[in-house]
Amino acid sequence: MCGIVGYVGTKDCCDVLVNALSKLEYRGYDSAGIAVFENGEIETVKTQGKLDDLRNKLDTVGKPQGHIGIGHTRWATHGEPSDVNSHPHSGARVTIVHNGIIENYIELKEYLTNKGRTFISETDTEVVAQLLDYKYNGDPIKTIDDCMADLKGSFALGIMFKDFPDRIFAVRRESPLIVGVAEGECFIASDVPAILKYTRDYYLLEHNEIATLTADGTSFVNEYLEPITKELKTADWDMEAAEKGGYPHFMIKEINEQPTAIKTTITPRIKNGLPCLEECGITTEKLKKFKSVTIVACGTAMHAGMVGKYVIEDLARIPVNVDIASEFRYRNPIVSEGDLVIIISQSGETADSLAALRLAKQKGATTLAIVNAKGSSIAREADMLIYTLAGPEIAVASTKAYITQLSVMYLFAFELALAKETVSSAECKRLVSALLKIPDAVQYVIDNCEEKCKFIATKLINADSLLYIGRGLDYALSMEGSLKLKEVSYIHSESYAAGELKHGTISLIDDGMPVIAVATQTDIIPKTISNIVEVKSRGAKVILVCTDACARELKEGIADYVVEIPHSDELLMPITAVVPLQILAYYTAVDRGNNPDMPKNLAKSVTVE
Ligand code: M6R
Repeated sequence: MCGIVGYVGTKDCCDVLVNALSKLEYRGYDSAGIAVFENGEIETVKTQGKLDDLRNKLDTVGKPQGHIGIGHTRWATHGEPSDVNSHPHSGARVTIVHNGIIENYIELKEYLTNKGRTFISETDTEVVAQLLDYKYNGDPIKTIDDCMADLKGSFALGIMFKDFPDRIFAVRRESPLIVGVAEGECFIASDVPAILKYTRDYYLLEHNEIATLTADGTSFVNEYLEPITKELKTADWDMEAAEKGGYPHFMIKEINEQPTAIKTTITPRIKNGLPCLEECGITTEKLKKFKSVTIVACGTAMHAGMVGKYVIEDLARIPVNVDIASEFRYRNPIVSEGDLVIIISQSGETADSLAALRLAKQKGATTLAIVNAKGSSIAREADMLIYTLAGPEIAVASTKAYITQLSVMYLFAFELALAKETVSSAECKRLVSALLKIPDAVQYVIDNCEEKCKFIATKLINADSLLYIGRGLDYALSMEGSLKLKEVSYIHSESYAAGELKHGTISLIDDGMPVIAVATQTDIIPKTISNIVEVKSRGAKVILVCTDACARELKEGIADYVVEIPHSDELLMPITAVVPLQILAYYTAVDRGNNPDMPKNLAKSVTVE
């Protein structure tokens, strides 16, 4: 949802801004722009298109020369992607970049128009620039504060005032923003990877705080305009983690990082062969008291919750609801004291998930966040917190974040089941030991299934539509397989509970339609196989992802292509089985000429409703 950056220092500002933006392009990539102080004037260069288009434009028109400036990469919300709608936006004395949504921009635009202001873009951001300019009273901080009182919605802003060519300002409400610091220079950015080339030290700007950045350092004021001292944080990610490292795309790099990501996530949470989440604020006493669990999330994170539902209900024997955050928040959901609400989010900033968390707290439920991005809003606001330790996930399509979310769901389910005394300590140890073997199984799938999936992808590229089918955990997993494929390949696909097909959807099957079936749960494999036979006899081309044991039992001709994965404990199979689905999606996208890291119309971090 838009990336913003800013720089004050001695380096060539244009180079720093473009480099920093290149690390945030995953947040939006339909236009890009920069503004730099050059000889006391604010020079702006912006264009529709990707960062490469901005680079080309800078080469053509010439780079503004200076050491202080701001930059933006956009995911359009108000107004189509175009040069004029691209950021930065300006009033006569103010230039800004913005991430977020100003909900009352229409009223403000009307107000400013009545005061004689004119607008050239369709954006909500230009309204903020004009408002700042209109209210400007010679004191930037007071002006920003005054404007904030008028703004409704979410925003992170990088601001330049023409009268103050030695500094930039930053402010946020809801949308994330960090302030990076190094010797003689400072930065603003929507996310840590943008500044890793220059520094790992940063401050997290809190809601309604205003930062002033000069070459001499940074200063902060709170919402009452009182100077404040903030805690300096150090990023534990290095540059390499945010680079492609020889892979053609982040998506395939991140798929390959999954064995390590799972290990890193689970190992510190296992003590004496049992799960131990005490460091995350989760104790047996607390767990014993919960009478229900509701898991709320969006997209892939919600799919991790679907697997969690099956696993928690199976092991801990308490009811689990899974809800889409954008539905939960407007549905007056039934949660109260004694209920646990789990919010899963890679970014920790997804607007709907954050709103769901706040609603759950308001209703008296206890909240647990499962989040990847350190210090994000969801991580900070939940009562209990388990970080997934996947490292930075740059590709828009979530892979390693999902697999670590699953790993955490398992650990949590084991711990809850122990607390509820629905599994014995010996059984729990057996499950933990099986979980510890999963990184090797995932590595095995990466090493042994990639070529086959690459080949199968060539058979999918011309499909108009696909179905994913499975039962139980395989159904929960097929939801993720289907989302992964459609978001990067742009081929329509649906996931269906295999037993439900005959209640309508089977009428879609015709000659050559690909159906991807997942069958890893021994007790229901015969049922899934019957469903496969049903679609096959109606002309479907069947791709079956199943365990090696299942493959050995298969009758000739049941599936057109079989991807065999190693058998592990059945409950844990989704972690291994998702990998071929991810690889299949990746190669289908690449074969269709798509960039899987930047699928059209999508952005990594959805900080707007
Ligand atoms: O940052 P979050 O995990 O809260 O994001 C939720 C979804 O937007 C995200 O999982 C999305 O569905 C992914 N692009 C899917 O790959």
